Order: sequence, then C-alpha cells, then structure tokens
Amino acid sequence: MKIIVIYLSLTGNTKKLAVKIYETLKSKNYDISLFEIACDKKKSFFRNCFDTLFEKKVEIEKVPNLSNYEIIFLGTPVWVGKITPYIRKFIEEIDLTGKKVFLFTTYGSGFLKDKAMNEFGKYVQEKGGKIIGKIQIKGKKIDEKIEEIKKCLKEL
Ligand SMILES: Cc1cc2nc3c(=O)[nH]c(=O)nc-3n(C[C@H](O)[C@H](O)[C@H](O)COP(=O)(O)O)c2cc1C
Repeated sequence: MKIIVIYLSLTGNTKKLAVKIYETLKSKNYDISLFEIACDKKKSFFRNCFDTLFEKKVEIEKVPNLSNYEIIFLGTPVWVGKITPYIRKFIEEIDLTGKKVFLFTTYGSGFLKDKAMNEFGKYVQEKGGKIIGKIQIKGKKIDEKIEEIKKCLKEL
C-alpha cells in the first residue's frame, strides 16, 4: 500500500505535523513519500488573507502523480477560516476518485478552524476522495500532541 503525505506550510507548523505523520508511518515500514507544495513566501499576511478570502487563483509549481498512491495525507494551515489557496488549487488539479484521503490542518487562535476543515472535506469529496480521518492541531502544540497523532494513525 503506497502512501503520500502532501502539505503546504508557510511558517513550519504544518510541515512539522506532516513530517511527524511521515516518520510515524515510515517506522512501521509503510511505503510512504513526502511532498511539499511550495507557496510564495514573500507575500504579505494581508495579501495571503485577501487571496484566501476572495478565492484568488494562485500558482503552484508541481503536482505529483498520484496514480500509484492508495492513501493521501493532505495538510494545510487555516487561513482566515479557510484552507490556503494553494491547497485549494492543488485539489482543483487532481482526481481523487477511489483515493482514501486523511486531512490535517494546523491553526493559530482556532478562529473558524472547523469551518475550514468542513470546506476542506467538501472539496476533497467533490473530487472523488473518500475521507478516512481528520486531525486539527494548534500549530504551537504539535510536540504535545504526538501521542494523539500516533493514536489517530494507529486507528487507520
Ligand atoms: C494569512 C494567515 C491567516 C491565518 N488565519 C487563521 C485563522 O483564520 N484561524 C486560525 O486559527 N489561525 C489562522 N492563522 C494561523 C495559522 O493557521 C497557524 O499559525 C498555522 O499553524 C500556520 O501553519 P504553517 O506554520 O504550516 O504555515 C493564519 C495565519 C496566516 C499566515
């Protein structure tokens, strides 16, 4: 069973969670890959909020070929109560028919984090993905939540 962990991270929190998922499953001998979707790190906070809120089109460099993967872990930070425009664009470009998808988000204050997760799930399902799990973790608390993350992966 081939697994891929795909994520976007501006300040490192979602990356930390993605790497933790990757390392946990790798240690159990799963055939797993890790892929970061790059974002424009020079954009201002307000520009990122604006692009997210008004669902502006953004560019993403590369989309991995998902045909060989059975399970996709897909992760994004929460921006203004939504998923990042980069992950949105990524989902638009892929076909998730028959794929099992595990969603993960990181957030700051928690403002509209559930709304973001609901939106995330809706987009993935619209592209044919079957949601097999979800984790939402406060960006600063990833280290404290390692056991919760491992438990969640164990239940897969
Ligand atoms: C543009 C922007 C908008 C954000 N909006 C929210 C928000 O609406 N709700 C929230 O809880 N956190 C919000 N945050 C905080 C991030 O979700 C949080 O810091 C996250 O862990 C960052 O992930 P990263 O380090 O992988 O980029 C926002 C951060 C940025 C940069």
